[in-house]
Amino acid sequence: MMSAVLTVEDLSVAFATEGGLLEVVDRVGFEIEPGATLGVVGESGCGKSVTALSIMGLLPQPSGRVTGGRIWLDGTELSALRREQLAEVRGRQMSMVFQEPMTALNPVHRIGRQLAEALILAGESKRGVEARAMALLEEVGIPAPAQRLSEYPHQLSGGMRQRVLIAIALASRPRLLIADEPTTALDVTIQAQILELIEKLQRERGMAVLFITHDLGVIAEIADRVVVMYGGRVVERGAVLDVFARPRHPYTHGLLDSIPRLELTPRTRLSAIPGVVPALAQMPSGCRFRNRCEHAVTACGAEAPQLEAAATGHDVACLRWREAAK
Ligand SMILES: Nc1ncnc2c1ncn2[C@@H]1O[C@H](COP(=O)(O)OP(=O)(O)OP(=O)(O)O)[C@@H](O)[C@H]1O
Ligand SMILES: [Mg+2]
Repeated sequence: MMSAVLTVEDLSVAFATEGGLLEVVDRVGFEIEPGATLGVVGESGCGKSVTALSIMGLLPQPSGRVTGGRIWLDGTELSALRREQLAEVRGRQMSMVFQEPMTALNPVHRIGRQLAEALILAGESKRGVEARAMALLEEVGIPAPAQRLSEYPHQLSGGMRQRVLIAIALASRPRLLIADEPTTALDVTIQAQILELIEKLQRERGMAVLFITHDLGVIAEIADRVVVMYGGRVVERGAVLDVFARPRHPYTHGLLDSIPRLELTPRTRLSAIPGVVPALAQMPSGCRFRNRCEHAVTACGAEAPQLEAAATGHDVACLRWREAAK
């Protein structure tokens, strides 16, 4: 187990809200091997970003709290570290590219300064910073890097800003890169370029990647393994080829059925599953998907189904997966 770069075990996260403590992530678990990419997929609000922020130790404070579980990075238990120790690991061993490229860069500082800050945080000497900053911009495919260093974020296109963010994330040569919907704000061509870039850098560096997206097409392209989340829980996980070829959970079936055919309008998302995700506070008892599930029976309301192996390395949390597979 300890050979994995990242191990997340039974992670639970809650937010303090006006209506009391709201559990948004419930016993989520997965591993990522060196050089591998894990895709995390699921509808809006299912807990993807909260899971990522928990790993990074960046949950919104003071409302967000890890209420259970453990997280290891390269054998170090992050969940046992103090805040300052975790900040150190974050600066050197793991990085995250956030959902919103415009908000993640500081609009009042030049690109060069923002890269320099990341490099210095990662232990680069003052003297080496400029050359390394140029090299990083080149590595992520930004033309005329010397000129870019003196520009401000608003002078760059969305695709270029996203490349800068990836460069900043890579400044520390991290063991783990978390990419949270890094391409949703970009047009399709730029999106493909960014995905290729992440894959290339990963091959060169053997980094583990946690890639969050709504988009199953992106998962198919970039991930080795996939975790499917619904209502804060993992409902299915396995190798991408297995899960896509033989989905076991009714929710995953629905997701795959809703992939738009090529000839239809691109990016019509997840429309084939009837109903909408209930607010977390109104989730049904037992299996959270059961009110939208054609296979649901009374027993599904009794307790949360546990993940079980449907095949080697392919787990599903559904009492009725055998029926659903037919
Ligand atoms: N600061 C917060 N306070 C209270 N609830 C929050 C907070 N941040 C997130 N949540 C709730 O936690 C749940 C999970 O949110 P999260 O951002 O992880 O979803 P997501 O899967 O990343 O969705 P999306 O695909 O839209 O990015 C949601 O129900 C959300 O409303
Ligand atoms: Mg999110």
